[in-house]
Formats: sequence, C-alpha cells, structure tokens
Amino acid sequence: MGSLSMTDSNPVARKRFEPFLPVEHAPYPYVYRFKNEDESECSNNSLNAVGKIFKKHRGDVASVFFEPISGEGGYIVPPKNFARGLKQLCAEYGALFCVDEVQSGCFRTGKFLAVSNFGVVPDIVCMSKAIGGGVPLGATIARNDLMDWERGVHEEFEIIGDVRGLGLMIGVELVKTKKSKKPAIKELERVLSSAGDNGLLLLHAGKNVIRVCPPLILSKEQALEGLEILRDSLKKVRVKE
Ligand SMILES: Cc1ncc(COP(=O)(O)O)c(C=O)c1O
Repeated sequence: MGSLSMTDSNPVARKRFEPFLPVEHAPYPYVYRFKNEDESECSNNSLNAVGKIFKKHRGDVASVFFEPISGEGGYIVPPKNFARGLKQLCAEYGALFCVDEVQSGCFRTGKFLAVSNFGVVPDIVCMSKAIGGGVPLGATIARNDLMDWERGVHEEFEIIGDVRGLGLMIGVELVKTKKSKKPAIKELERVLSSAGDNGLLLLHAGKNVIRVCPPLILSKEQALEGLEILRDSLKKVRVKE
C-alpha cells in the first residue's frame, strides 16, 4: 500500500525490474479525500480491501508492503489505528508486515521509523535515501528469525553465470565466479549428481552448462519441484578455484 515505485509507479521506475511477483494494491486510507471524512470508516474501508485480497488468495499472500506515510501519493498520514489493524490482518493470514520507510524513515517524522508513531513493530523494513546521506544506499532490515540464511548462500549462487533459452530449451551456465567466467566443470558434475540423487535427472550441455530440457507435458507443479531440487543442489556446491 502506498506508492511503491517498483510496483505502482511510472513505467520509467519499473523498467528493467519487471516482471515482478504478482502484486495487488489496496487503496491508501486518504481521510481528506474520503467521502465521509470519518477516520475510522476510512480506515476500515482500506482494511476491508486488504482483507478481500487475503481472502481471494486464501492464505497465499506472502507479505503486505505499507508506507507509514504515503510519500509520492501526497504525504498522506493514515488514521491512527490503521497500521495496527493492518498488522493484525497480516498476523491473522500469516503474511509479513513490511514497511517502506524509504521516504519516511531515519527520523523524518521524529522517530527513527515513522511506523513507530503508530506503536507498531514491523517484520521487515526497507530504508534508503536519508540513511545514505547523499550516497545511493538501501537497506532491508528484518526480524532475526527471518534472516536465517545459511552462510554462503549468496556465494553459492555466484556460480550461475548465465541463464538463457527459449521456451523449454534453457541453459544454465556455471562459472567459478561471475567476474572470471571460468567454467565450473567439476561443480557442474556435483550439481547434476546431487540433483539425480534427489530425483531430478539433468544432463550437461557444452562443458559447464546445465541442460534444462524437460518433457513438453511438464506440469507447473513438476516444474516447481524440479526447480526446488536444482536450487538445493546448487546450494550444496562450493566453488573450488
Ligand atoms: C517511499 C518510496 N519507496 C520506494 C521508492 C523506490 O526507490 P527505488 O526506485 O530506489 O526502488 C521510493 C522512491 O522514491 C519511495 O519514495
């Protein structure tokens, strides 16, 4: 909710980042423009709209993004209890409550996070602009238990140099490092072998490319299962220079 540049802004801001995971937008509680100018009714209307989205997707909503004060939308301050209501809805449907503090954070509203003005603690916070003091910098801050990434997860995926293809003829080229582009031949063998052990048969193409060439009758569920196995196999492989 609010004016997230990436998913709800002008095409220039979205360009090069699309496609996004599916996103739905709910109206921001804009009391001044709301027909009855009643805070609680306005707040409930927006919460109901979010509730409808939750119901429509039957518990399959990963997160809600909310700007504690809508910035590009017109510096709109939501009704006092709105953030609390939104967080409660998230808790009810098992979604993460994420706040976009890109404009409002870093003491702009008197508190480090604008959402603290509403007595709500978010699960994830996005910050930028002021924290860099002119340097383009962004930060994602999250609850400790959401950040339980295994050590090295990022490096392991460093080995994916290139993913290319048309339709169901896809090549995933493995390299020692993205910079050197040195073929990760041994690593590829280990990925294929681990995938095979877990029920996903893959062949190589060239020296260091995973050949993703599934049967054309592949279902979406099978594709997702295969991707999961491939991801786990990639995670296990450590690059040896
Ligand atoms: C509140 C808010 N969120 C997110 C963004 C997006 O920043 P970026 O385009 O760097 O992703 C902006 C940009 O102005 C913003 O004002």
